[in-house]
Amino acid sequence: MKASKIDGRIFAENLRKKVRQAVTQLPDSPALAVVLVGEDPASQVYVASKVKFTEECGMNSLEYKLPADTKETEVVNLVKKLNENDKVDGILVQLPLPEGMNSDNVIKEIHPDKDVDGLTEASAGRLSLGKSGLRPCTPTGCVMLAKDELGDLSGKHCVVLGRSILVGKPAALLFLEQNCTVTIAHSRTKNLEAVCKSADILIAAVGRPQMVQASWIKKGACIIDVGINRVPSVKRPGKTRLVGDVNYTTAKDVAGSITPVPGGVGPMTIACLLRNTVIAACARRNWETPSILNF
Ligand code: GUN
Repeated sequence: MKASKIDGRIFAENLRKKVRQAVTQLPDSPALAVVLVGEDPASQVYVASKVKFTEECGMNSLEYKLPADTKETEVVNLVKKLNENDKVDGILVQLPLPEGMNSDNVIKEIHPDKDVDGLTEASAGRLSLGKSGLRPCTPTGCVMLAKDELGDLSGKHCVVLGRSILVGKPAALLFLEQNCTVTIAHSRTKNLEAVCKSADILIAAVGRPQMVQASWIKKGACIIDVGINRVPSVKRPGKTRLVGDVNYTTAKDVAGSITPVPGGVGPMTIACLLRNTVIAACARRNWETPSILNF
């Protein structure tokens, strides 16, 4: 048996179409403010994509590019100004911030109602308490892909490999919200291989290239690979290539379905950010959230 490939690019494209359609149903266009501090090349690419897709979905994009030597207080003041700007529905501060800047000090200033990244303490608290709120984008993308593949997730054993604030912890809570039985596995977990092998759904989010081997996977399991690791290319000496946390080549012969890297979870993050921007705008402005965004 060969696993079916979960195409995150197509799913994300469809989700962006739904966001665009949702925007047409609103009385006014939502606006997303993106703050980029410094010249990190990967961040520049991400931010350019966020701006492009925000506009493609019919929303307003406000871009703030600040030099790497900007003082932390200046970034905080910008966030405060965006909080007060009634035209702004969502605020995203691109991470990582330049060395020496404390991202916690900046993120915590984002008003929870505009926290489209779902990274503030208020958003994390709401998720943990099971209250409605803005959910982190990448883990939400994982749930969407798993549900699209498997349907109802109730009672399934979901093993989340990794416990980061950005992905692992919120992913565990989001799969719990879907009535999964959730295990969080990490570097200190005993019998890691056996724990992973008991998963109906395995979320790999450790940042270790191709750590998960075929022998770690239950036959027919759904594998969601969040890893984005740059490794030297064997075929093209001197070049690099992207691989996930799962050995795709061997895993696909055991799994039932699996996300590739690139083209799996990655494209979902921005699509979920756009969806969150519409959800934030609707909540702030007392509009009904278009049902096309439900999943
Ligand atoms: N840098 C890489 N991914 C992300 C993300 O999802 N949100 C933010 N704010 N920064 C990132």
